Amino acid sequence: MDKLKIMSVFGTRPEAIKMAPLIKELQSQTWCDPKVVVTGQHREMLDQVLDIFDIDPDYDLNIMSQGQTIFDITSRVLNGFGDILKKENPDMVLVHGDTTTTFAAAMAAFYCQIPIGHVEAGLRTWNKYSPFPEEMNRQMTDDLSDLYFAPTSQSKENLLRENKADDAIYVTGNTAIDAMKFTISENYQNPILSSNGSSVRRLLVTMHRRENLGTPMENVFTAIKEIAHDFEDVEIIFPMHKNPAVRDLAKKVLGNNTRIHLVEPFDVVDFQNILSRCHIVLTDSGGIQEEAPSLGVPVLVLRDTTERPEGIQAGTVKLIGTNRKLVYDAVSTLLTDSSEYDRMAHAENPYGDGKASKKIVSVIAEYFEKHIH
Ligand code: UD1
Ligand code: UDP
Repeated sequence: MDKLKIMSVFGTRPEAIKMAPLIKELQSQTWCDPKVVVTGQHREMLDQVLDIFDIDPDYDLNIMSQGQTIFDITSRVLNGFGDILKKENPDMVLVHGDTTTTFAAAMAAFYCQIPIGHVEAGLRTWNKYSPFPEEMNRQMTDDLSDLYFAPTSQSKENLLRENKADDAIYVTGNTAIDAMKFTISENYQNPILSSNGSSVRRLLVTMHRRENLGTPMENVFTAIKEIAHDFEDVEIIFPMHKNPAVRDLAKKVLGNNTRIHLVEPFDVVDFQNILSRCHIVLTDSGGIQEEAPSLGVPVLVLRDTTERPEGIQAGTVKLIGTNRKLVYDAVSTLLTDSSEYDRMAHAENPYGDGKASKKIVSVIAEYFEKHIH
């Protein structure tokens, strides 16, 4: 029998990080002919991940343009990936998460009537515009999918609530934890972790969400600047997303301060190791809410909603929004109240045992056993 052609498609940094362990696992299977398509929705930030995990894509749509809109991304991915599907006719397409690459690639696979496996299925805020456009990207992708790889039992519950078939949903854990097995190292060192001595408390900050661009982001940056001013033992590390709307504002509000490091995006090995050695992380990222709980780092989430309630229930994650005073107060409390800090730093990782990729691959093999025999 011919090998099964399983085609993974992704385009942004977080999708690449969380698909990489799965691609490695697929590559180790004798029954599988794995194909990798990148859309290039991100360019530099995607390439950093491909380099680290040594993944050489079979196709690269290279769609990114400065100031790209969600209309641009959707139409370029739909057409470009559609052409690849017509040529390659894979047995299954795997998509990840909730980006516009994810949704448009799933749509293209649906138009070609190719089964779709959705990795990180079932995350929900139930709020159409928060996060935007990710909430509807993931809902629409789940509507198009045939197999659901839900990271937690709560995400499975969300899918059942939408009447997705019970026997198509598998709770696997999150492949983010698998990826950390490749990246985290006890002996890791970086000069940014030793600047100004070892008694410094380092706050890691990332921000990029579309709904936070502009005033909400400016409010948060102002609060961070005030924290750096008021707490002399605090340093801020801010790897700036490549989006100019983030970088320009960060430089304007946070620039020219010796205790605020505005740096280029770290590669994932640097980022996750630095994260594990920071005191607190402030972020609007999805993936970082999954990684920090297993590293014992308290997470303050710069958003009003989260599709990842597990970290909040575990106690490591707190939703604080983007109001200047509320952000200042939340950070200041964690810097001054050691029992509150310890409570948040000693919670459990709700995202599995780092074997999600293995589970996903065995479900795919089983799916074809059922459908071919
Ligand atoms: C995208 C996803 C978001 C995800 C995020 C992860 C959509 C609509 N948004 O948002 O769900 O959380 O990625 O980071 O799918 N840029 C570069 N080089 C890069 C990457 C980005 O120059 O390597 C710049 C470009 O100017 C680009 C802009 O950043 O136009 C925004 O990128 P885009 O992918 O449209 O949106 P993100 O905010 O990154
Ligand atoms: N990350 C990275 N370098 C950085 C910042 C983040 O490698 O400078 C990683 C981080 O470990 C996580 C992912 O990028 O796995 C999160 O990406 P992002 O916040 O851009 O997207 P989201 O998860 O919000 O979709």
